[in-house]
Amino acid sequence: MRRWTLFWALAAVMTVVALWGLVAGAADEETARLLVRWTIRACVVPFLLAFVAAAVGTLWPGGTADWLLDNRKHLGLAFAYGFALNMMTIVWLASFNLGVIWSGLSLLDRVESYGGLAVVVALTLTSFDRFSKRMSPGAWRLLHTLGMYGLWWVFFRTNWLYSLSAVRLGLMAERWLYLSITLLLIGSLLLRLTAFIARRRHGATLVLPREPSLGR
Ligand code: HEM
Repeated sequence: MRRWTLFWALAAVMTVVALWGLVAGAADEETARLLVRWTIRACVVPFLLAFVAAAVGTLWPGGTADWLLDNRKHLGLAFAYGFALNMMTIVWLASFNLGVIWSGLSLLDRVESYGGLAVVVALTLTSFDRFSKRMSPGAWRLLHTLGMYGLWWVFFRTNWLYSLSAVRLGLMAERWLYLSITLLLIGSLLLRLTAFIARRRHGATLVLPREPSLGR
């Protein structure tokens, strides 16, 4: 499965996750909070695959790497789709508890949340030639590299803090879930670092051409 078929398959799975929660739960704050969590968790998978694609291409060239590189843009768009679902569930949650979108957030939370939202919008728009052609290749790469690291940071910090809370509160299932996601995030960063070092050592250039030109 590749490109748009892959995108629609992932989008369908994420939509089913959201609708399932909606049908199974009640129309209350607890269900809305659960949906916020499940929709953002579902996003981690396409995000991480897109995040490590270039590194896998450098470290283990071959079939899997080619698939990841070929589908990187569509994995990124699937993440953006899931994120849009997450934003809808947050609006629903805010209808029960307005504090979750502003007054209940620390300054850092606000910067990360709304900065993250702005980054997702920017990365999504510039994944299409219509917007990306107005940028230089260098500016495009800078935006996408820094943007992905920024999103990585929000995922990492949130899951790490939730891991600590789950450990403190003695919540076994949550503890393992949050710790596993945190470890996957750390692993993905180490993979990118290893690929970076390998490229420097062997003088190889980044495997990836400018992304929009992949959007055949
Ligand atoms: C306008 C922007 C955002 C708002 C208003 C927002 C709000 C929220 C809320 C209300 C929760 C649930 C808190 C709880 O029940 O404890 C949550 C959880 C979370 N958010 Fe956000 N968020 C935003 C953007 C982001 C971004 C950009 C990311 C990451 C790229 C992100 C990642 C997460 C994660 C990982 C969780 C924890 C989910 C879990 O429990 O597994 N959020 N967010």
